[in-house]
This record gives sequence, C-alpha cells and structure tokens, in this order.
Amino acid sequence: MSILVTGGCGFIGTNFIFDWLAQSDEKVINLDLLTYAGNRLNLSTLESDPRYQFIEGDIGDYASLLARLQEYRPRAVINFAAESHVDRSIHGPEDFIQTNIVGTFRLLEAVRAYWRQLEGDAKAAFRCLHVSTDEVYGSLEAGEPAFSETNRYQPNSPYSASKASSDHLVRSYYHTYGLPVLTTNCSNNYGPYQFPEKLIPLMIHNALAGESLPIYGDGQQIRDWLYVSDHCSAIRSVLCAGKVGEVYNIGGLNEITNIDIVYTVCDLLEELVPENMNSLASAINSRRSPQARGFRGLVTYVADRPGHDRRYAIDASKIGRELDWRPEETFESGIRKTVEWYLQNQSWVEAITSGEYRNWIDTHYR
Ligand code: NAD
Ligand code: DAU
Repeated sequence: MSILVTGGCGFIGTNFIFDWLAQSDEKVINLDLLTYAGNRLNLSTLESDPRYQFIEGDIGDYASLLARLQEYRPRAVINFAAESHVDRSIHGPEDFIQTNIVGTFRLLEAVRAYWRQLEGDAKAAFRCLHVSTDEVYGSLEAGEPAFSETNRYQPNSPYSASKASSDHLVRSYYHTYGLPVLTTNCSNNYGPYQFPEKLIPLMIHNALAGESLPIYGDGQQIRDWLYVSDHCSAIRSVLCAGKVGEVYNIGGLNEITNIDIVYTVCDLLEELVPENMNSLASAINSRRSPQARGFRGLVTYVADRPGHDRRYAIDASKIGRELDWRPEETFESGIRKTVEWYLQNQSWVEAITSGEYRNWIDTHYR
C-alpha cells in the first residue's frame, strides 16, 4: 500500500510526510515540481528510506502523472501542490492560474483515469484529498461568525480565486463522475520549514538580520493560526474517516492580529536568541530610541496589501463533531517551538534565502 503526495517538498507537505512516516510504514510517493518554494533537501534524511520515493514532476502533466499512478498504484492521492503566496499572486497571477486551476484539473483527470481502472475493494477504498484554504470564503468583519463549510465563496486575491476554482473542480468531479474526493479548507499554518516570505518566518529572519519588520496597513488584520502538525493530524483524520464528497474546515482557534503575532515573535527572540547572537540584539538596541528597544523597535508600518482581507476565522466544529479532531498545540506552545526551530536551523534558512529570494524581497519591499 502507498499514498501519493503532491507538493511534498513545500512547507506543509514536508511536515505531512515526516508526520506520516512517524506513524506508519505505508510508503509515500512525493511528486513535486521543485519551484522556488519546494526544497528536496527538506526530506534528505528519508532519501535512503524504502518507505519514501521522490519524483520530480508537475501536477499539470497528465500523461506523466497517469503513468506514475499506474506504476505505484497508490490507495490515495493528497494534493498539496500549489502556488501559495498571496503577495506573489498580486505581482503575477499567471503561475497561480496554471498550477492551481489547470494543474488541479489535469491532476483530477489523471486520478479519474487511474481510479476508473481500479476494481473491487481497491476502487471502493480509493480517495483523493484536496488541500485548500479558508481564504476562499473571503473576509469577515469583526463579530461576524467564523467560516463554516456552507459559507459562500468570495475570494479576493488571484491566489484565493485560483484555490476557489480548484475546489469547485474537485467538487464537480465528485458530483459528475463519482470520483471519491475529500476537500479540506484550512487557516494559516505556522511551524518548521515555512518559506521566509510568509509572515512568521519572514519576521524571524528579518529580526535576526537587524532588518525592518514590515507590517502591512495598520497591522490589525486577524488570522486564525494553526500549528502545522495539527493540520497534518487533521488531514490524516479526514483521509481515514471523512465522508466522500464532503468538505472539512480546519482551524486552530487562535484569532490573533498581525501586530500581536509580530510582537510575540520579537519577545520570544529577546528571550531565546543565544549568547553568541546577543551582540546582534545589542547592536539593534543601540540604534533604537529608549522607548522602542529590542526587536520590537524594528517594526515598520508599510503600504497595505491590495485587497487585503481583514479577518479570517474558522468554525472547525464539523471535523470535531464528526471525526473527533481537535488541535493539540496552543499558540503559545506552537510559536515557541517555531522560533526555536528557526534559531536551530539557520543553515536551512541561509540555503534558501539566496538568489530568487533576494529578487522577491527587492521587488516586493523596496
Ligand atoms: P508551499 O508554497 O510551501 O509549497 C508548495 C509546494 O508545491 C512546493 O514544494 C512546490 O514546489 C510544489 N509545487 C508547486 N507547483 C507545482 C506543480 N505544478 N506540480 C507539482 N508540485 C508543485 O505551500 P504550503 O504552504 O505548503 O501549502 C500547501 C497547500 O496547502 C497549498 O495547496 C495551499 O494552498 C494550502 N494551504 C496552505 C496554508 C498555509 O498557511 N501555508 C493554509 C491553508 C491551505
Ligand atoms: O489563510 C490561509 C492562507 O494563509 C493560505 O491559504 C496561504 O497559502 C498562506 O500563505 C496564508 O496566507 P496569508 O496571506 O494570510 O499569509 P501571509 O503570511 O502572507 O500573511 C499573513 C498576514 O500578515 C496577512 O494579513 C498579511 C500580513 N503580512 C504579511 C507579510 C508577508 C504583513 O503584514 N507583512 C508582511 O511582510
């Protein structure tokens, strides 16, 4: 038995594969295009493990995907592969349309062709799980109820519109062809291996470099933060016991403003930055006014993101009620683990923040 994961060299996919193989001996085939966000080295410790197989490939390549499915005969496909960064979708939506819409369509076609050839128990047990986002539901005002699975889709960025399209395609393959699909819509993840273009790892990276911490607009936007291992356990629950054709919202019960996230990161860095980095902290302090000492003093308000969603909040009662899933990590414990991981893995950050990353930072922030 095996499962095929797409996009397993990205942030959540990497965590999911480690999590899966820590709990099971079932083989994982990881198909990833290795875009700027994909890092094969994340999983280098698994390269000699017979339970793991990496394939460089594109979910948009129907023929190659079908051939791989026929070769490995997985019992499930879990689709993490996507262009995932809202700001990049604003600068250039094309890749988002290609991967998130056309790519998901081709993936569904290949999975449908493979599934049609299966027989008996293998056909009945097969599942295709599509990983999506809370951003498809749009933006909430303060006091509005959290997103439930029946909320209207109102995507506001090219990224969320492309994910919304992919969700609709997935839904249609269930209703039209009977393909046994499951969809999850999750809130903001954080944790190890997140690319430092996203809020939390960007703030850690910039703070350690003594660079400014750019807060869009007034910093009062709210996200619901979920530690990545809790997302992984939710996906395992849905794959194992989710009802075919259904959607499950996944959230961390942690609605926090962006500025509070950044201050929390700053305060943890003050506490955790090791001795040999203290000279950096002192250097930063000496450049700041007495009222704004330390890493918090690096906070800089910058122009807002166009179409910036004000608030996301997830009602995760369905997955709790039906699949008995709940997040285990509090924000306090999860953010501490995250900051510690980045401090202990500076070489990982350094390896991926050269070249293309510098171009992105220069284009977007300067
Ligand atoms: P990521 O950007 O870190 O990783 C994406 C991975 O997909 C990379 O390894 C990349 O190489 C790969 N990829 C991109 N295009 C591909 C293609 N055409 N074929 C094969 N592989 C391709 O993303 P992430 O944060 O790990 O997100 C994973 C999934 O979860 C995405 O679908 C995203 O929309 C969704 N999601 C993310 C979050 C979050 O907070 N990060 C929250 C909710 C949902
Ligand atoms: O809600 C789920 C989504 O969460 C996922 O679908 C996306 O793939 C994932 O990237 C994430 O999207 P966000 O846009 O919410 O994440 P990001 O880390 O880019 O931004 C989080 C918040 O922080 C958002 O309100 C914008 C703000 N921000 C972000 C950056 C990079 C800043 O204020 N400054 C910044 O420099």
